[in-house]
Amino acid sequence: MDSNKRPDSMARITTAELANKFIDEQVAAVRAQVGDKKVLLALSGGVDSSVVAALLIKAIGKQLVCVHVNHGLMRKGESEQVIEVFGKALDANLVYVDATDRFLDLLAGVSDPEAKRKIIGAEFIKVFDEESAKLDGISFLAQGTIYPDILESIKASEGKKAVKSHHNVGGLPDEMEMELVEPIKLLFKDEVRVVGEALGLPHGMVYRQPFPGPGLGVRCLGAITRDRLHALREADAILREEFDNCGLAEKVWQYFVAIPDVKSVGVKDDSRYEGWPAIIRAVNTKDAMTATIEEIPYPVLHKITARITEEVDGINRVLFDLTPKPTGTIEWE
Ligand code: XMP
Repeated sequence: MDSNKRPDSMARITTAELANKFIDEQVAAVRAQVGDKKVLLALSGGVDSSVVAALLIKAIGKQLVCVHVNHGLMRKGESEQVIEVFGKALDANLVYVDATDRFLDLLAGVSDPEAKRKIIGAEFIKVFDEESAKLDGISFLAQGTIYPDILESIKASEGKKAVKSHHNVGGLPDEMEMELVEPIKLLFKDEVRVVGEALGLPHGMVYRQPFPGPGLGVRCLGAITRDRLHALREADAILREEFDNCGLAEKVWQYFVAIPDVKSVGVKDDSRYEGWPAIIRAVNTKDAMTATIEEIPYPVLHKITARITEEVDGINRVLFDLTPKPTGTIEWE
């Protein structure tokens, strides 16, 4: 039987009861596969890698080594949450690498989106490789592959042209000869979330909106600078907080701030104030191939605008992107 094919008889996991049954089966399967050997996992803090981590911690405890590479392009609070949940609450064997300076130094002056993606993807693999070389006796590599990834790669191998090179952080270095552990590879995203909740992960982590591998790197448009990246992270955090407050976070598939490398003239405290515009994007989609714009109530937009312009240094305007996909892609880069 092809282990990459979901059996027709496999029930859709929609309840905690079904999730617990799946977890018990996978715990047994992972223990049988791994024995007393060690497993390495690149833990981004995204839904899939987080659920795999929680599942493997349950199955093999400290035999799992999680490596979290902070590339400096995470959203506000994300790396801290990984440390809190996995390092502290779940007492995982967690290696935290702050590689911010490495990434930002390499990206300095690079404005082409695809060049940025390539640098981020390649450097991620390099850092991950360096960290794993420091570890002894790793025999397995765990991955948060899910069923749509398998279906996607079948499509890709049939030769469809990609619009953007989606470098998923956590790529598997070719030279790594380790056996794979992929406990959620037959699950769809909604099932992964049900399993994540059954494993006791925080709701916000399990229902996290999709976040691209290159992170804020493709939202700090053009050549990334530390000051604009900082403004982006703060503005994005305000947007997320306000969407949480008014219930939009549950309704909108993906929402974020992008900041272009351009300043306009504004005024603050009676003085000329040149600043960047924060662009708000909020879209709904089924498969990210096309997307529609979520209608945001004006009072919410006013509040977000007031908070971002008051609280974030360097931003003097807020714009709302009304463009569906096509013609706009979801990300600006
Ligand atoms: P676009 O911008 O192509 O985005 O309409 C579609 C979806 O893909 C995400 N995206 C990425 N994800 N690496 C990723 O892992 C990337 O380089 C990348 N670029 C875009 C985007 O956030 C949206 O959900």
